[in-house]
Amino acid sequence: MLRRLHPDQPDTFAFTKANQLWAEAQITKFPEGRQASAIIPLLWRAQEQEGWLTRPAIEHVADMLGMAYIRALEVATFYFMFQLQPVGSVAHIQICGTLSCMICGAEDLIGVCQDKIAAKPHQLSPDGKFSWEEVECLGSCANAPMAQIGKDYYEDLTTERLAEIIDELAAGKVPVPGPQNGRYAAEPLAGLTSLTKYESGRTQYNASVQLATDIGDTVKRIDGTEVPLLTPWLGKSKPTSKSAAKAKPAAKATAKPAAKAKPASKAAAAAPAKQKKPRSLKAARKSGPDDLKLIKGVGPKLEQLLHSLGFFHYDQVAKWTAEEVAWVDENLEGFKGRVSRDGWVEQAKTLAAGGETEFSKRAKY
Ligand code: FES
Repeated sequence: MLRRLHPDQPDTFAFTKANQLWAEAQITKFPEGRQASAIIPLLWRAQEQEGWLTRPAIEHVADMLGMAYIRALEVATFYFMFQLQPVGSVAHIQICGTLSCMICGAEDLIGVCQDKIAAKPHQLSPDGKFSWEEVECLGSCANAPMAQIGKDYYEDLTTERLAEIIDELAAGKVPVPGPQNGRYAAEPLAGLTSLTKYESGRTQYNASVQLATDIGDTVKRIDGTEVPLLTPWLGKSKPTSKSAAKAKPAAKATAKPAAKAKPASKAAAAAPAKQKKPRSLKAARKSGPDDLKLIKGVGPKLEQLLHSLGFFHYDQVAKWTAEEVAWVDENLEGFKGRVSRDGWVEQAKTLAAGGETEFSKRAKY
């Protein structure tokens, strides 16, 4: 299937404050020079925020990670979990159409989606509440046919039950996920043949469904209010399933840990308190600006920002003193701390002398 960006795109994208802090904290999970490893969680967060992945969102994430746009586009267009077009405001229904599910009635489930939502996949229903698509095996073959709706699996479906589930979702309810035919999990339909005694204390639903109903997020999108934005890798304790279940209001849940995470300010803290604006130019020299994107950590947006601050050439960056680095670090709106984090001055020295860095060699191809 061809995966293309949607023809109608918004002009801009920005993470909410809570999501921006969360995203910056995610980047600190990865060692120096490997920030691009954070691309999937960041794209996912952008999708959760907007409902689908817009081009400005992909480019924003690429800028945050110092990646060329094409690299971020490659990831976004490769993985089917990223929706490249608007999806239903209530739910996007993913029907598994692979072997087990197909044999057990997936085509009839698709028929329900065509009747109740839209004739074609990836089209919105007339009220904009639903969309659907056929997907490959979701690994729940013993409970075929099944569909993923939001974050949960609805298994052992019939056409009648799927139609009811869509109606319940449209009415603002969240049907209990998991097997829809009375099975507890994936035991034989005719009942248990071995290990026939359940352990005492088993939960009402199987572990996945129990957690799903405890958390209750099913079709709700992550908006930064669900789990405190903790950063255990920076010395914070992990959120427990209990704390995850207790959603807190956005400001309360996010302000404290996010403020403590402050990955960008980590660099600022290490920088000298004194700052000095480096000498800048009104425009690039006659020979034209250098390709600042060959400095690791500088994407197209950051390059534009550097131009607007009067920095066009490697030799300008190469001459920055510690105080000047501190000034630039502080004045890179949305990218604070990048100069020291990625060692721009050292890279610029090499590039200004006509040499190559490990990154510039790769970036040219
Ligand atoms: S074939 Fe449908 S979940 Fe595997």
